[in-house]
Amino acid sequence: MSDLVNVALESGVLTVTLARPDKKNALTNDMYGALADALERAEKDTAVRAVLLQGDGDSFTAGNDLADFAKISQGAKGERHVTRFLTNLASATRPLVAAVQGNAVGVGTTMLLHCDLVYLATTAKLITPFVNLALVPEAASTWLLPQRIGYARAYAMFALGEPVDAQTAFSFGLANAVVAPDELRAKARAAAEALTKRPLGSLVHTKKLMRDAELIKAQMARESQIFSERLMSAEAREAFAAFAEKRPPDFSRIAG
Ligand code: COA
Repeated sequence: MSDLVNVALESGVLTVTLARPDKKNALTNDMYGALADALERAEKDTAVRAVLLQGDGDSFTAGNDLADFAKISQGAKGERHVTRFLTNLASATRPLVAAVQGNAVGVGTTMLLHCDLVYLATTAKLITPFVNLALVPEAASTWLLPQRIGYARAYAMFALGEPVDAQTAFSFGLANAVVAPDELRAKARAAAEALTKRPLGSLVHTKKLMRDAELIKAQMARESQIFSERLMSAEAREAFAAFAEKRPPDFSRIAG
């Protein structure tokens, strides 16, 4: 579906690599489709015992492609694969491992809340600028993030949108370890391979017991409705235009 996402199965690990480094792995609709397909394959293909998510270049991902958002805010229609990707993340029963370097923006951070093991390079920066973009957080992060790190920290991440560095993210409990950038892939790969040696049935049940998939999906549905409304707002149009024009947004003349 997209040549900007590479999927490879080796020794039971389905490695899913975002491969759009010139745009910091910003996610287009087709890329979301490829990610959704990979997660569906992981559930169906008995050879897959763990999934490893990673990104090429200096960033994990800059989040949703802002040009795509701008098109939607101008009225573009069509299937949005992001919904299928998020639903598949919520329903995933296979272990998900993430290797994160550089920027992990928006969904680049919120998807980590659905991963079972997260490894950060020292360069990692978790950024959730939903409010700065006049949107609301997604991927059930409005529930999962405060639950994980507490309301005060979660609110600051969402409302101020300031980057959280690797050590801070680790101290918040958002990751399992921080490693040197040149060790990141090997570390995450070794963890994924270790999981392939564990009894899959037991891993699947353990994950199901630790996560309330139905509650997560219900929160995603609530977020998604408001997110879609916000995408069409004058505030969001200003935010996307400002990014395209490489200037700060000016919300001062727009009534909320
Ligand atoms: N959508 C589309 N293009 C993006 C993008 C995004 N989310 N993020 C980065 N890019 C593009 C830039 O427009 C630029 O393209 P160009 O070379 O054609 O001008 C290229 O990727 C490199 O980005 P740049 O901003 O020069 O890199 P940087 O290292 O200075 O900053 C980020 C990296 C990720 C901090 C910055 O690009 C950014 O804030 N991006 C927007 C992130 C965002 O708001 N995502 C949505 C979350 S919901």
